[in-house]
Amino acid sequence: MDKSSVSDFFVIKALEDGVQVIGLTRGNDTRFHHSEKLDQGEIMIAQFTEHTSAVKVRGKALVQTSHGEIESE
Ligand code: TRP
Repeated sequence: MDKSSVSDFFVIKALEDGVQVIGLTRGNDTRFHHSEKLDQGEIMIAQFTEHTSAVKVRGKALVQTSHGEIESE
């Protein structure tokens, strides 16, 4: 895994209460390992790490990454 994939930060801003940010494990076994709940207006700033290779966002949120900005519903 190259270093840039680890240092990349992304921002998630909840646009409603109860938005879930779910971290999925890196490696052969892809499973949920962490779930964070955000209420409207709360933000989470996170990175991909050696433990986390993917993130699932449930609910209405604004997600900013180095690839751009997208809204989940
Ligand atoms: N302990 C997790 C890790 O180091 C924490 C984490 C980092 C995380 N990025 C995340 C949890 C994104 C949820 C979503 O990988």
